[in-house]
Amino acid sequence: MEPSDPDRESSVDPHLGEVIVPEAVLQARIAELGKEITADYEGRSPLLVGVLKGAFMFMADLARRIDLPVEFDFMAVSSYGSATKTSGVVRIVKDLDLDLSGRHVVLVEDIVDSGLTLNYLVKNLQARHPASLEVCALLLKEGRQKVEPDLRYIGFRIPDQFVVGYGLDVAERYRNLPDVVAYHGGIT
Ligand code: IMP
Repeated sequence: MEPSDPDRESSVDPHLGEVIVPEAVLQARIAELGKEITADYEGRSPLLVGVLKGAFMFMADLARRIDLPVEFDFMAVSSYGSATKTSGVVRIVKDLDLDLSGRHVVLVEDIVDSGLTLNYLVKNLQARHPASLEVCALLLKEGRQKVEPDLRYIGFRIPDQFVVGYGLDVAERYRNLPDVVAYHGGIT
């Protein structure tokens, strides 16, 4: 690992704690996931569905590691509840542009915490009759789900703590950090 850049936000912001997944480790795992998806979907043209905003960075890096003619679509959701806990009631803020019927869909998620958001999204997308639907989540918080979520691809299992960076935010901040970092501040 390179020594930290003293100008980086993480080295001066008192809310940011230890690096949970460093950039190099993230990128190496994403390359592996891309290889797996390339092998699993050989001869097909999967449709990657990204969940905004958190998954935008992961989606961009993952897609570049998939050696297939992939297509993209995005949806944006917001969940009712406090900033750190989702209630499971999800509102679609931006829906998909494409029709999923007959498509091989890979839902790309940033982080699965309680799993309620994912549960809602899978049901919602399944109702649109894709030929297949699998989930690729970068991070899975351990011990937080009542039922083991049905994830075909998992980047990393992390301990139950709030993290930011690599797309993940607190009040829209920190998404541009290249690492996944523990957040110790208050949640606004
Ligand atoms: P769930 O419905 O409890 O699984 O929450 C999933 C969503 O909550 C994710 O897509 C994130 O937007 C957000 N989230 C959950 N945990 C974290 C975290 O540690 N950092 C940032 N966002 C999080």
